[in-house]
This record gives sequence, structure tokens and C-alpha cells, in this order.
Amino acid sequence: AQQKATVTVHPEQGKQIINKEIYGQFAEHLGTCIYGGLWVGEDSSIPNIKGYRKDVFEALKDLKVPVLRWPGGCFADEYHWMDGIGPREKRPRMVNNNWGGTVEDNSFGTHEFLNLCEMLGCEPYISGNVGSGSVEEMAKWVEYMTSEQGSPMAKLRLENGREKPWKVKYFGVGNESWGCGGSMRPEYYADLYRRYSTYCRNYDGNRLFKIASGASDYDYNWTEVLMKNVGHRMDGLSLHYYTVLGWSGSKGSATKFNNEDYYWTMGKCREIEDVLKRHIAIMDKYDPQKQIGLMVDEWGTWWDEEPGTISGHLYQQNTLRDAFVASLSLDIFHKYTDRVKMTNIAQVVNVLQSMILTKEDKMVLTPTYYVFKMYNVHQDATYLPLDLQCERKIVRDNRIVPMVSATASRDKSGAIHVSLSNVDLEESQEITLTLGDVKAKSVSGQILTSEKIDDYNTFEQPNLVKLADFKGAKLTKNGLVVKLPAKSIVTLEIK
Ligand code: AHR
Repeated sequence: AQQKATVTVHPEQGKQIINKEIYGQFAEHLGTCIYGGLWVGEDSSIPNIKGYRKDVFEALKDLKVPVLRWPGGCFADEYHWMDGIGPREKRPRMVNNNWGGTVEDNSFGTHEFLNLCEMLGCEPYISGNVGSGSVEEMAKWVEYMTSEQGSPMAKLRLENGREKPWKVKYFGVGNESWGCGGSMRPEYYADLYRRYSTYCRNYDGNRLFKIASGASDYDYNWTEVLMKNVGHRMDGLSLHYYTVLGWSGSKGSATKFNNEDYYWTMGKCREIEDVLKRHIAIMDKYDPQKQIGLMVDEWGTWWDEEPGTISGHLYQQNTLRDAFVASLSLDIFHKYTDRVKMTNIAQVVNVLQSMILTKEDKMVLTPTYYVFKMYNVHQDATYLPLDLQCERKIVRDNRIVPMVSATASRDKSGAIHVSLSNVDLEESQEITLTLGDVKAKSVSGQILTSEKIDDYNTFEQPNLVKLADFKGAKLTKNGLVVKLPAKSIVTLEIK
């Protein structure tokens, strides 16, 4: 069966740029995200470039990652950066208390991270330690990374083989300070933010964009207190929102679910729009000029760990369902790009809703990777508002889920990209798409779909879910007609 929908794009209303940082990634010292995922070391038999996995590096380069957050997450508030510099064999070890008690050998530290960002051509986003670190330690880290020759920390950096400072823009002052980052009350954290951030200096032309640790989900009071007590001392305020069943008990299997579970997931993921609106309304009250960015620096699906994997390592598979969480979330982030200055999906490799999974020398790209790939045309493009009419379903927990999700942008060359998701598992969509005064001359596209919604890529069958050319869009007198198969995600390029 087929449903009908209309998408009316308003090119003449395009004003805002979709911040490319909305496509940000997150790499924590957690499970095999860093070790085995990004980093194997120079002596590994796994092909590598100066210790970074070659296959993963190339896949990320292709993705055009704009910003990478590191070293956590919860790990950040137990991390002491000085343990991760100097000769690797001399670096002290520590226990990764948050994530399975794994012993961390600190072989991936500041140099390894910032050099990776340079190689990827992305902005680093460093999370500083407020929970268990000192003001002095944080201040020296900033000096080490960003001050020119001559300062004590620049000398130490030189001794460790790097003369020139790195460019570091994004700096987080703590993470989840209400929880793993120190179990603080917002009033207390607000004061600590003021104190710690005072000593995060701008050295030699490097200008830090300072981000305060923000709320989780529905904690509007946290945002209120931070806006009131910190205000413009911060450049950004973070928000974490996971598509998760709950924080106690089973979170459900990543791969074994029924249709009802799937639609529930769509509802929960889409709820981030209401959550954003409420946090933004509070921010607007204190900052009507929208100078402070809302940084959704953790989001994505969180399922039970794959059976047989190490507990605390948050290793999960990634099906076509996860791809929909990615496309629907990105569609929403675009809409609020005047306030949402960055988002970081959790996490880049082998952890939660990852882009990439690795096992020894093998690598697979997940369905989520392909959404990010297909969508990267929207980075830094002009957001084009649109109206959408389509069928809706009422799903478990009484959430209403539209069966189509859409977003549009115009890039610097003038090409318009429209991304469309047909959430419906059974019915295809015939979408009437109009573009105002724009006279479309050509259309091409890519599609992500699969036979079953719970299909996923494995090391044995890595190409079950992947991008293909899309031929279902036809130009008409007034725009386009798009035939979208059930459970599919498409990006069109219209010239
Ligand atoms: O992404 C996994 C964890 O989720 C992060 O370390 C923490 O900030 C959040 O609770």
C-alpha cells in the first residue's frame, strides 16, 4: 500500500547556516573506542598510519567529521592529562573506573588526539576535568595545547616533540557534573564553572569556545540555574539526550525487537524536539540574541550490550532502526540550528550508536555511518524551512510519530539537498515535493534501506545495509514526485 505526503520547501526563507558541527563525533576512553578502534599503535600488525588504524581513519576522513570530542564522557572527570604525555613506556597506568575497571595505559593522550584531529581536518573538542581535577591542572592543559614557544608548558610540549601549539577551539569545563562528573547541584557547579573557566586562557590568538556541563534530558532546572548564574561567561551549554528505554533494568536488544518497539524508538527519539524547545525557551529568556550555543554533545541510541562482550564497554550492534534515529535527529537539529551549534553522537567507534565497528583487523560501517555520509551535504549549507503533511501513528507511551521526516538545505554552489525518511515499515510514500520559485532541472539521489528493519552489517556480511543510487524521484511541472519505499532514507540533490 501507499501513503501520500507533501513537502513544501521554502527556499526564499533560507537564512541560517546549518552549523557543520552538528555532525560532530565523540570518542571516549571506553571499551574499544580508542584502543582497537581508533588506535592500535605503530607496532601493530593491523595496518596503521603512525598508530591510527588505517581503515577507520580513511572511513572517518570520508565522513567529513567536523569536530571530535575527547577524552569523555565520564572518563574526562577522572582523567589527568599529564599521565598521557611523554614517552609512552613511561606513562603511568590507571583504572578506568567508569567503564568496566579496564586498565588504561595512557598510550593515547593529548598528542595522539590532537594530531589525529589535524590529520582528519576536524576541530578538537576537549573535555576538561572538574570532578577530580584541579584548576591548576586544567589551566596548564590549556597552556600546554595552545601557548606559543616560551611558556613553561610550551617548553614541556617541545620536549615531547611538538613545537607549534595546536589550535583548540572547543573546551568543555566538566561533563555531567550532576552525575559521574561530581554529583553536584547546579548552583555549586555554576560557581565552579566560573572559577575553572577563569583560568582557561586564550593564548597567542587561540580563542577558546568554553562549554559548560549541561542538563540531561528533562532537567530544565539545570539549564535555568546555569543561564542565570553563569550566563555569558559560557559560549555553550551542553545537553545530553539518549534514545533509551530507561536507566535501570534492560535497555532492550539492539537487534531483536518487534514493530512496536521500533515505533516506540521513533517516538522517543523524536521527543528530543520538545526537550530542545523547552531548554531553548529558557536560554532565550536570558540570551535573546542567541549568543550561547546549545551543544547536544551526547545523543543516540543506548541498548543492552551485545551478549558475550565485556560488561561496561557499551558495545552494541546497529541496525536500520538506528539509522532512522540518526536521520530523524539530524532533521530536528537542523531546524534549531540558530541555537544548536554542535551535536556529538555517542560514539564514533565500537561504543553505543557508532559509525564503525571493529574486530581485530576487520571493520564494518554501520547503517548510522551511511546516514552521516549521505547527510554530510547539509554541513554549512543554508537551512531551508519546510512544511510537511503526512500520516501519523500513535505509538506506545502515547507519542505521535509522523511517518515522514524531512529536511532541506542549499549549498554554496546553489544545489538543493532534501533528505526524506519514510518511517513506515509497510507502506511506501508518494511525496509531492515543491520548491517555491526554484525550477529544478535535474535530480539524483541516494537511498539507505534493507529488506528488514533489524538488518545490520556484520564482519561476515559487511554490506547488507549500504547506500545505493535512488531513481524514485521524477521532475514535474511544479517540482518533484518522490516514491519512497517503506523504511527508507533518501537524500536528493536537486539542481
Ligand atoms: O557515552 C557514554 C556515557 O554517557 C558518557 O561517558 C557519559 O557522559 C554519559 O552518561
